[in-house]
Amino acid sequence: MKFYIATDHAGFHYKEQVKDYIKSKGIEIIDLGPDSADRVDYPDYGKKCAEAVKNDEGSFGIIICGTGIGISMAANKVEGIRAALCHDAYTATMARAHNNAQILAFGERVVGMGVVQSMIDAFIETEFEGGRHAARVEKINEIDKERCSYGADIK
Ligand code: RB5
Repeated sequence: MKFYIATDHAGFHYKEQVKDYIKSKGIEIIDLGPDSADRVDYPDYGKKCAEAVKNDEGSFGIIICGTGIGISMAANKVEGIRAALCHDAYTATMARAHNNAQILAFGERVVGMGVVQSMIDAFIETEFEGGRHAARVEKINEIDKERCSYGADIK
């Protein structure tokens, strides 16, 4: 298992703690920045993590901004990426079990580190259930394909 992590300035303060937690489980985590708490734009880092996960089959991502909203919106614009904005262990479990999310998103201003650790545990330990959920995820992929074909006309 391998993770990529990226944040904006409002999620930056959790990044080292999250990296340490993932590493303590013997799991590799690659830091995509930023390198300081200077102000940055969350779409740049949501995209960066989503593209890294897309280009490294089987990998996962963690993205953090103030609320988790903006950075997950940006990541979800990358074709084939399912970034789940989670708030607790239950939503993180379901993001894997039903939605086959590759990226866990959350807000540093929303959840404490105890909750973050429980979400990471849930995300790591839960397998996609497949079956009827696979058919639904495939419908999301179909929307992606339609959206990309509209995109071909937008210059
Ligand atoms: C930055 O102030 C904040 O807007 C950002 O981190 C995020 O919460 C946006 O969705």
